[in-house]
Amino acid sequence: MKLTVIGSGYVGLTTGACFAEVGHQVVCVDNDERKVQSLLAGRIPIYEPALEPLVRKNVASKRLRFTTSTEEGVDHGEVLFIAVPTPPQPDGSVDLSFIEKVAREISQYLDSYRVVVDKSTVPVKTGERVAQTIRRYAKPGVEFDVVSNPEFLREGSAVEDLMKPDRIVIGGNSDRALAIMQKVYEPFVAPVLVTDINSAELIKHAANSFLALKISYINAVAEICEAAGADVLKVADGIGTDKRIGRAFLDAGLGYGGSCFPKDIAAFIAISEQLGTPFNLLKEVQRINSRQIDRFLDAIREALWVLKEKRIAVWGLSFKPNTDDVRSSVAVSLVERLVAEGANVVAYDPKAMEKAKELAVGRKIQFADSAIDAATGAEALIIATEWPEFAAVDLSELRDKVRTPLIFDGRNIFDPVAVASFGFQYRGIGRGVVAERN
Ligand code: UDX
Repeated sequence: MKLTVIGSGYVGLTTGACFAEVGHQVVCVDNDERKVQSLLAGRIPIYEPALEPLVRKNVASKRLRFTTSTEEGVDHGEVLFIAVPTPPQPDGSVDLSFIEKVAREISQYLDSYRVVVDKSTVPVKTGERVAQTIRRYAKPGVEFDVVSNPEFLREGSAVEDLMKPDRIVIGGNSDRALAIMQKVYEPFVAPVLVTDINSAELIKHAANSFLALKISYINAVAEICEAAGADVLKVADGIGTDKRIGRAFLDAGLGYGGSCFPKDIAAFIAISEQLGTPFNLLKEVQRINSRQIDRFLDAIREALWVLKEKRIAVWGLSFKPNTDDVRSSVAVSLVERLVAEGANVVAYDPKAMEKAKELAVGRKIQFADSAIDAATGAEALIIATEWPEFAAVDLSELRDKVRTPLIFDGRNIFDPVAVASFGFQYRGIGRGVVAERN
């Protein structure tokens, strides 16, 4: 099928490449000329495992093209996917102006029937607005349908999530459009859930906020574990083996970050308030999440007393492993807070240092070439992101390199007993029992 994806960011680019991989003829549109040039040369602007080879392969086989022209995109695709940013606004609601602009641009070039698909994460009822906008600006009599088809990919495993999804959600109010969408997804082996537009939009916000709720739930339990003398890892395993609960997203830590959860939870709260049905539970989810970093800093201050001029090693800057994305990264927030208190931060991240250097805080810290280099001479070591290489570090070598053996493990990557046996004083998240044993 001939498909067009408008917006070649994380979601748009991965979606376009995966559609091409299964045999569709795909045009990806982006208004950033430099990005388009680099994509045509097979260079992608983000670190995402498996994506670059996929883009290269499909560009070479001519199933994937990039352009800056929306007109070319509208002309090419029988289905037009909108995958442009929906950034947060200060009050938590979402800035839908990019979506609205694309809707107007599409309508300008619309000559015959197209399915216009909203892939970006948007509040419920956006599809209705997109349809209204296109109708208003398009030539009279031109036919189209609007469909909501939310994307559930995770950064770091985006290609796999897209090629083998748990489910595909298609929300639409027209049989013609739904039949076309079913055909688009035929090559993907996954259950397809067909709904109305509003339900599909709600599924995305409800899914992400439920996952955030799980994280905040276990983080709240972690605080109780610390107070009571229990190990949150054991509690998470114990409740997670219940199939009704599931072990996923029950890893206690510094809290959730990234470009999706914080924004989507705020947006869900905002739209629920606009609809007159405030979702107060989610406010508690947010509150617990932001408390995690405060509690962690309290523990660091408690151990170090004064942070000013202390050399503190921070392992991990990306918002989670296997990505170079530092947007709304809790690790970066932590570094900012340490710097604000006068600490000398030496950071190391396997992939995210280039992006971190572009941030304001990037000019105020040192970057090391390896985890061990960062820890050398450190008066405390903080683990902020759980990259696999950190857990595999030689603890004996680490003990020799640090100035004072204090580990603050914000992602529970270490076995507290093992690190203690090398002479470290250890503090994880929700690991009350072990702290006492030490
Ligand atoms: C998320 C959703 O998972 C995905 O379906 C949606 O399409 C986009 O948003 P992503 O932001 O890429 O994906 O990352 P995810 O793996 O969900 O992690 C989000 C945050 O939660 C990270 O900061 C991670 O460190 C944190 N997290 C995750 C925890 O603190 N504990 C957990 O148990 C799981």
